[in-house]
Amino acid sequence: MTAKKRDDVVLDGLEKPVLGPTGRPLRTFDVPGRLKGHGPARIISLCNQKGGVGKTTTAINLGASLAAYGRKVLAVDFDPQGALSAGLGVASHDAPNIYDLLLGTVKDAHTAIQKTAVENLDVIPANIDLSAAEVHLVNEVAREQILARVLRQVVDEYDVILIDCQPSLGILTVNALTASHGVLIPLECEFFALRGVALLVETIEKVKDRLNPGLTLDGILPTMFDSRTLHSREVLERAVERFGDRVFDTVITRTVKFPDASVAARPILSFAPDHPASLAYLQFARELISRGAVA
Ligand SMILES: Nc1ncnc2c1ncn2[C@@H]1O[C@H](COP(=O)(O)OP(=O)(O)OP(=O)(O)O)[C@@H](O)[C@H]1O
Ligand SMILES: [Mg+2]
Repeated sequence: MTAKKRDDVVLDGLEKPVLGPTGRPLRTFDVPGRLKGHGPARIISLCNQKGGVGKTTTAINLGASLAAYGRKVLAVDFDPQGALSAGLGVASHDAPNIYDLLLGTVKDAHTAIQKTAVENLDVIPANIDLSAAEVHLVNEVAREQILARVLRQVVDEYDVILIDCQPSLGILTVNALTASHGVLIPLECEFFALRGVALLVETIEKVKDRLNPGLTLDGILPTMFDSRTLHSREVLERAVERFGDRVFDTVITRTVKFPDASVAARPILSFAPDHPASLAYLQFARELISRGAVA
């Protein structure tokens, strides 16, 4: 018998690349080396005006994953609901918070920083008081740049600062985008998920044009993916069609472990370290580092 030709081998499927959920060949990303020193931070906003798409979950779990790789991370709660503060188990009432810093009633940003149970992961909390910011900031000079000014005080002490935005495109989100180097858009793999993304991309472009020329769309992270449902796969397919390589290879699947971890006020990495969802956020951290979005 003659040896198999290379084409036959390919036809046998032995050398076919394994495709990931995005339809691209499945890639792995190297475990990053330790950094020699820290800072200045790259500031990244988690942004989507649609509610409940995984912004806070991503801020918490990406933050914990980057921290696990030795990056010094500051997570900024920029939503009056305070879900990030609650999810990381830090005090947000009767503690200096981001609203105090925006208003200047607390001047030194360091006073508002709290450590979490996760090494290398700190938080500036928020609470419902922040909902008054829209009204208070409206008459301020350079009102879009207030958060940028606050974060300048601490930027040299971290490798990455993650801003957890509220689900709106109002003055707080514009402040977050103005303070940021990059934006991550979590995209829920559900019906109508893509509807608002064009408006969001337009807003990002406007901020880039008028306020922050260096702003970059770092990418779109598919969340709550369920491979068993056709529409989950369709949403992902359409996102890749529309945004190409800006859709990350990493896809976060839907699992009840996330709400469970929120109730426990811990990142999933410390709540269920071996769960595939923990590994997915670690992989996302590696992907961001390999794309150069984080040092
Ligand atoms: N991959 C996932 N699988 C299952 N549930 C998830 C997943 N990601 C997040 N959740 C849950 O979905 C809910 C909304 O998630 P999250 O709070 O992260 O969204 P959000 O975009 O920050 O919402 P909001 O716009 O209200 O701030 C939470 O209860 C969270 O625990
Ligand atoms: Mg949120």
